[in-house]
Amino acid sequence: MGRHLTFEIFRFNPEDKDSVPHMETFHLEETERMTLFIALTRIREEQDPSLQFDFCCRAGICGSCAMMINGRPGLACKTLTRELPSEITLLPLPVFKLIGDLSVDTGTWYRAMNEKVESWIHTHRSFDPRAEEQRMDNALAEEIYELERCVECGCCVASCGTANMREDFLGASALNRIARFMMDPRDERSSKEYFEVVGTDEGIFGCMGLLACEDVCPKNLPLQDQLGILRRKMGWQAVKHLFRMG
Ligand code: SF4
Ligand code: F3S
Ligand code: FES
Repeated sequence: MGRHLTFEIFRFNPEDKDSVPHMETFHLEETERMTLFIALTRIREEQDPSLQFDFCCRAGICGSCAMMINGRPGLACKTLTRELPSEITLLPLPVFKLIGDLSVDTGTWYRAMNEKVESWIHTHRSFDPRAEEQRMDNALAEEIYELERCVECGCCVASCGTANMREDFLGASALNRIARFMMDPRDERSSKEYFEVVGTDEGIFGCMGLLACEDVCPKNLPLQDQLGILRRKMGWQAVKHLFRMG
């Protein structure tokens, strides 16, 4: 027989002037292979239809169901209740704008971040539909793909002390994004141009090396390696900049 689960869930509707932030308790009997997504869906269907939380793919791909699970950011659809104690506390991710209860607006944050770091291939080549596609070295394509696996769930940002204290900090996922473009031979930005985007206090020099980002990343991205590489490359650029070497 399954355990008796107790959920403490954050409730607040910023759109309702009478709403006050508080925790609400729900109870459920655990079923086999129950995920937090299944538990929340059952609570909404059977106990409180007003409960707000996000989901889309239910497979760890869209990144929309991230929340604080017993104090740690994670994906609700990929977290089995059997991995947790029978008392489960759920809160919305910090840093992002609260929509209501467990739902936050990561989309606006990620759009602004992608615009800030100009998260697209910069090339002067004009598009020619008849041109033959340039083949990329397999090993390099795989390295780039590894960093492309980010689902923009926001867990790394929510776990980061710097991002929690400073609104202007780019965060690990943006720094990972830049590292990905620096690897890509199709991106024609110069080291100086990358330095202007990321060699700043908002960028890699604002990172205090707390490393919670890598610990919580549900896609196991090698964030620690990428931040280290970026710090070394940008450190060298900073020296060049200081001594006006180019
Ligand atoms: Fe989520 Fe990992 Fe991407 Fe951060 S780097 S947004 S934790 S998938
Ligand atoms: Fe934050 Fe990760 Fe740096 S947790 S401070 S981005 S190492
Ligand atoms: Fe898409 Fe969880 S619902 S990652």
